[in-house]
This record gives sequence, C-alpha cells and structure tokens, in this order.
Amino acid sequence: MSGAGHWHDEARRWAAWARTPGHDAYWDYRDAFFELVPPPGRATLEVGCGEGRVSRDLAARGHTVTGVDVVGELVDLAVAADPGSTYVVGDASVLPFPDGTFDLAVAYNSLMDVDDMPGAVEEIARVLEPGGRLCLCVTHPTRDACVREGDRFVIEHEYLERRRFEGTFTRNGLTITFKGWCYPLEAYSRALEGAGFVIEAMREPPEPPPGGEPSATYEADRRFPDFLMLRAQRR
Ligand SMILES: C[S@@+](CC[C@H](N)C(=O)[O-])C[C@H]1O[C@@H](n2cnc3c(N)ncnc32)[C@H](O)[C@@H]1O
Repeated sequence: MSGAGHWHDEARRWAAWARTPGHDAYWDYRDAFFELVPPPGRATLEVGCGEGRVSRDLAARGHTVTGVDVVGELVDLAVAADPGSTYVVGDASVLPFPDGTFDLAVAYNSLMDVDDMPGAVEEIARVLEPGGRLCLCVTHPTRDACVREGDRFVIEHEYLERRRFEGTFTRNGLTITFKGWCYPLEAYSRALEGAGFVIEAMREPPEPPPGGEPSATYEADRRFPDFLMLRAQRR
C-alpha cells in the first residue's frame, strides 16, 4: 500500500491521536521546532498538514498559512478547525501551486511518510521563491536504526539504506499505526542539495523533562535524540 493509502486508512485514528493535547511527542517538541521557524512573511505552506495542528500553531504565530495533505478527510478536519487559513488536498510530489508561491515551507514529520521524499523536496523548492526557507522535522535517522534494550540504544537495522518503517502504538486508549520510510542523514542532505537548498541550521533536541508524572525512562530517553530538525534556504 502507498503511504497515501495508509494515511487514508488511519485518518480518523490520526485525528484523535494528534488532537489529544499532550498525547504525542509534538507537544513536547514544538517549542524547539518553532525556534527554527522564521517570523511570518508573505505566505507559509505546510506540507503534509494532516488535521492541521501545526498549521494552526503557525497561524497563531501570525503566519498566513496554506496546508496541503493527500488525505481529503484530514483536510476537511483542518478546514473545520481553522476556517481562516487555506487547506487543500494535494500530493507533496506534485504540489498544486505555481512556482514561487511561498516564502516559507514547513514539513513536520511528513517527509518520512511520503513515498518520494526527494521528489517532495524538489516540489517544495519549486513552490518557494528564491531565498525562501524550508523548516522540517523528521524522526532522527540514527534513532530509526536503533532498538531500545533497557536503558541502552542498540543499532539493529541497516542505517545506510532506505528502509520501510511500520509501528503500531497504543497509549491511553488510542492506537495509531505509523508507516513510512527510514533514511540515513545523507539522504535528507542530498535531497536538499539536489533541490538547491543550503542547510542553515540543524537541531537534535533532547527529550524535554517530564512535566507531571516522573518518567522511569527519562534518564535513558534524554541520551539520544528522537527527532532531527533542519532549516534550509533555497538559493
Ligand atoms: C505523521 S502525519 C503529520 C501531520 C502533521 N504535520 C502533524 O504533525 O500534525 C503525516 C502526514 O503526511 C501526510 N502525507 C503522507 N504522504 C503524503 C503525500 N504524498 N503528500 C501529502 N501529504 C502526505 C499524511 O496524510 C499525514 O497527514
């Protein structure tokens, strides 16, 4: 099944998962991500916006937002929650916008889910004006290669090859299946280089300290990054 087909099937479960405050890692990591995001400019695109929580956070920070996602059901939910922004159905590798439409693009945990990651990065470059920026977050490539054994991270998988990822998670009565791709860091760099981007900033934020309940695994979790965040500028 294609990545898009998977997200069609998971749409309702994803909306419940994404919309439950504090439920997934977004709520812990969004501050680190927004530190990378430039101030609002002319027009901001979110690629793979899902039900729209990142776009709503961008709009709340003053961005004029267009969100695009391949799943119509998720786009409908995004529109209903934020009628002031624009949300459209479209595929990241054939973006339905003219060249140079945006001065900022954001891809939050979506580039590892699209079937053609380099193609999506090229399309993002096309719809950005020269000098425009792309801010992205993906699962950290080294984390993808690991398994946890107690408090140790063990490299278990092929790091240097593109590899399918599939994992089902259940927490507080909600279940979600993630399906996507694991890439080495170099694959992201090559995609950005090939599309004419220069990487400006890279972040590997540590797991933030647990808020309420003390977490038994925190000391181990904070030793290794879950996410990789990049800001790149189109030449
Ligand atoms: C993990 S969700 C992240 C959603 C959102 N960025 C967030 O953090 O809440 C990944 C999203 O990528 C979308 N997606 C997958 N393949 C896509 C493609 N080819 N074009 C556009 N969106 C795609 C999925 O439908 C899904 O909404």
